[in-house]
Amino acid sequence: MPQGMVLGTLSGAAGCFGLAAVCGYTGLIKNKTVKAAAAGGLLLAGTAAGGAALWMGLMYSAFSYDGKRQMSRQIIEGIADYVKLPEGGVGLDVGCGSGALTIACARRNPQARFIGIDRWGREYASFNKPLCEANARAEGVSNTEFRKGDALRLDFPDESFDAVTSNYVYHNIPSSDRQAILLETLRVLKKGGCFALHDIFSEARYGNMQAFVQKLRAMGYEQVELIDTTKGMFMSSGEAGWMALSGSALLVGKK
Ligand SMILES: C[S@@+](CC[C@H](N)C(=O)[O-])C[C@H]1O[C@@H](n2cnc3c(N)ncnc32)[C@H](O)[C@@H]1O
Repeated sequence: MPQGMVLGTLSGAAGCFGLAAVCGYTGLIKNKTVKAAAAGGLLLAGTAAGGAALWMGLMYSAFSYDGKRQMSRQIIEGIADYVKLPEGGVGLDVGCGSGALTIACARRNPQARFIGIDRWGREYASFNKPLCEANARAEGVSNTEFRKGDALRLDFPDESFDAVTSNYVYHNIPSSDRQAILLETLRVLKKGGCFALHDIFSEARYGNMQAFVQKLRAMGYEQVELIDTTKGMFMSSGEAGWMALSGSALLVGKK
């Protein structure tokens, strides 16, 4: 949860309340009905934005690396546990955001390199390549590289990487077939390479993930498992509920 998103929504709420006061208490709008409708609408919008800002603030504090809960750290380190690279190997983090997972994987595999790619679009405006590079420097990790890229069409040939990973990315991508996005990530994984992909794998977002697991097994993938991370592994089911993260799971295995 980027801080800019919380502050932006909070400013939106404040703006709506301010405008509602201007509409309601000044002579700016003469017609009484229009005045009441405008002020009421703005109050409603302000309340909705205020509620959203409160929810985002709670999420921010739960996910923050400085806060008490440290949920991001738990998730990132928990995923990175599954990412093992051979000597001289190269890994890929799809949708690296601020670089946290790329850096955690690179730190655990000092004999290898890790590349993080992200589209760094407007919806996550505070994430960018210089931030990733600054974060890697701050952590004293030098075996990382960050590039702009699209998870839908990865700019790498088939079987380029010894490991692929990702955290909470694919559900953000508008698509009627998210299993195809998973296959695009797995396309660039070498035979024998490992994968650890964490996301909200709900039926509504992905369709039947158990069938997808079976499909991967039938394609020759090994040790494929879909691990529910909302039963204490990364979060409690209560946290998953209020954070809208129900269905979170880790898809792991070997190609
Ligand atoms: C919730 S953030 C997660 C960031 C990071 N994986 C982490 O764990 O901190 C989602 C990220 O997905 C990225 N993203 C969304 N659509 C993408 C796409 N089509 N290709 C690459 N990255 C994308 C966003 O820019 C954002 O950085």
